[in-house]
Amino acid sequence: MNILLLLGSPRKNGNTEYMADKVIEGITENNDNVNLNKLYLSKMKISPCIACGVCEKEPFCILEDEMQDIYKYIKECDVIIVASPLYFCSVSAQAKACIDRCQMYFNNRVFRKTPIITGDNKKIGIAISSGGSKYPNQFDCLEMTMKFFFTEINADFTAKLYATETDKKHVKEQTSVISEAYEIGRSIANELKCR
Ligand SMILES: Cc1cc2nc3c(=O)[nH]c(=O)nc-3n(C[C@H](O)[C@H](O)[C@H](O)COP(=O)(O)O)c2cc1C
Repeated sequence: MNILLLLGSPRKNGNTEYMADKVIEGITENNDNVNLNKLYLSKMKISPCIACGVCEKEPFCILEDEMQDIYKYIKECDVIIVASPLYFCSVSAQAKACIDRCQMYFNNRVFRKTPIITGDNKKIGIAISSGGSKYPNQFDCLEMTMKFFFTEINADFTAKLYATETDKKHVKEQTSVISEAYEIGRSIANELKCR
């Protein structure tokens, strides 16, 4: 089983990476049959979508950069985890560039009437985020982005994990979030055993 972890924070060992690592720990400690691809989007060359429209007519994106590798990882993965800090109520620019480049999947489904990723066994999609503050509906916009992204890559929005007030307390000190993260991983591990 292939797990793809897309890290949207430009900070290594930050809150969202810590949360994602705990989910991964929950998966790997409860299922031996997993292969992890962990990608730091901020270290990859991913140009923003230029809306050239080529993917309305062709089953590919013409921009030649490291997004081409990510398309392959997306196609092959069984579980996709997107972990992004909350930036102005949405995902980080690094995560958004990657997600926008997945317009290719939307355009192929809608304009070419030929979805690129199909199959009854939907991928498992997990959204992870953390915000420095705490306020109502904080993650709504990010969650909508994740929902549309998962739909286009034939993934179920299976779980979400959000942490707040990281300005006051790093998530590693927020024990309830960490145990929730591990628990999400453990239940995904069990779900993967049934596939
Ligand atoms: C550009 C920028 C925008 C931010 N916008 C928000 C925001 O809208 N809401 C919020 O609660 N925190 C916001 N924050 C704080 C981060 O979401 C928070 O520090 C997060 O936990 C960082 O995750 P990381 O450690 O994985 O990078 C912002 C931080 C930056 C740098």
